Amino acid sequence: MAISERELIAAARQARRHARAAFSSFKVGAALETRDGAIVTGCNIENATYGLTICAERVAMFKALSDGHRAFTRIAIVADTDSPTPPCGACRQILWEFGGNLEVHLANMHQHKGVHQLKDLLPLPFDARLL
Ligand code: THU
Repeated sequence: MAISERELIAAARQARRHARAAFSSFKVGAALETRDGAIVTGCNIENATYGLTICAERVAMFKALSDGHRAFTRIAIVADTDSPTPPCGACRQILWEFGGNLEVHLANMHQHKGVHQLKDLLPLPFDARLL
């Protein structure tokens, strides 16, 4: 059965609960939908070096890839902020290379705040076609 937008966002909110954000206290959850109708979630994971932090979106994508998923349709990203939290530049690159032109749904704990196409968030991308 098709996954609703509400379910995808609920999965991101649930994943956010697992965030390891001891240094920023900024917890993020992500839920990535695969083309065959699975949801793979991620949360941000910080550590004492700060620089090795990995965002929720990349955790979700790397989990999905390592489980063998290869085609993706949407990602929901949730933080507890009034303004939506868009993916950082590094995540845009990884999502683009492995997920293509995903629908990116941004939400907070209460509301869906908007939907974007990844190609609009990462214009003029560098990817394998240019190598
Ligand atoms: N973060 C994410 O997980 N995803 C985003 O889209 C923005 C930022 C994390 C990284 C870091 O753990 C914290 O939020 C503050 O930047």
